[in-house]
Amino acid sequence: MIVLGIETSCDETAAAVVNDRREILSNLVLSQIKEHAAFGGVVPEIAARAHLDHLDTLIKAAMSDAGVKFAQIDGVAATCGPGLIGGVMVGMMAGKAIAAAAGKPFIAVNHLEAHALTPRLSDNIEFPYLLLLISGGHTQILAAEDVGVYKLWGTTQDDALGECFDKSAKLMGLPYPGGPELEKMAAQCADPGAAHERFPLPQPMKGRQGCDFSFSGLKTAVRAHVERFPNPAPKADIAALARSFQDTAAEIVSDRCEGAVKKFLSAYKTAAPTLVAAGGVAANKALRAALQDLCGRHGMSFIAPPGALCSDNGAMIAWTGIEKLSRGLNDELDVKARPRWPLDPESQKNRKTA
Ligand code: KG4
Ligand code: ZN
Repeated sequence: MIVLGIETSCDETAAAVVNDRREILSNLVLSQIKEHAAFGGVVPEIAARAHLDHLDTLIKAAMSDAGVKFAQIDGVAATCGPGLIGGVMVGMMAGKAIAAAAGKPFIAVNHLEAHALTPRLSDNIEFPYLLLLISGGHTQILAAEDVGVYKLWGTTQDDALGECFDKSAKLMGLPYPGGPELEKMAAQCADPGAAHERFPLPQPMKGRQGCDFSFSGLKTAVRAHVERFPNPAPKADIAALARSFQDTAAEIVSDRCEGAVKKFLSAYKTAAPTLVAAGGVAANKALRAALQDLCGRHGMSFIAPPGALCSDNGAMIAWTGIEKLSRGLNDELDVKARPRWPLDPESQKNRKTA
């Protein structure tokens, strides 16, 4: 089975071709960083227009890189939400049009589910697994039981983790997008111990019951430190604050996940219990190390897909298409774009966050 995947829900225009042997035949991502950099964040209208400008050529290139024709694919998958609705509609309509013209099934993909299923593409893992979804818009802990079956155990009460990285990086004067830049800056800190002493940061929710998160206090504390920087701020100070921030974020995430790890181990008796980190922030090496350590302490495996599959990409959309199509879960062409699309619609927690 071969599926074309299209992703346009935020600021990456992406197209990929993947088969059911987990081979990524092509995976093209066109970042709109330059278009949005001047505004310090994603501008929805600019994003939608940029997707419109580039998507058709990108799809053609993905098909040609994969060496397949539309007649040879088994389905077309496109992100239909959640995300910036203008962009979502561009990708969804392109996908529907190709599916209709080529007479192939269309698969409406939930962007969050695509992040959630990526470790099944990269590492071939079995359900159930514990999933930490950390992206620019979401911070959730879920038990992934099957395709389409997720139990939401924890979520953020305010900012998403990626948002907190981006906003803190912006306060530190780092370029957009802040997360990866903050990680690079933290790597330049020569003395982490001294950095923590000079720039202490709070750990909201630490030690509390449950698996919910809160990050807005962390960002506010970063602002207070930045306001006391000399002008211009010495690079060593920015590196030290970035390091303190990253380590604190890793400690918070590890603390909040610990409750979920214990809950998972008692709820599911699987032979190889696994925690998966997915979403753009899962590319962060300090976070990965903290989660690896947590899992080591509880006899659980830890998996995070390679960086290129953590941030938004078309391969995860194509793979979700394969997972759904192989279960007969394709959609009619009148399926709607959804700006909000919770993975666990039953959960009360979604009322606040999804
Ligand atoms: O999943 P993603 O590509 O897009 C969304 O669905 O949101 O995640 C993007 C987020 C951004 O907030 C970005 O700053 C963050 O992931 N990010 C990182 C790193 N790479 C990407 N945050 C921290 N460290 C990184 N290395
Ligand atoms: Zn994403």
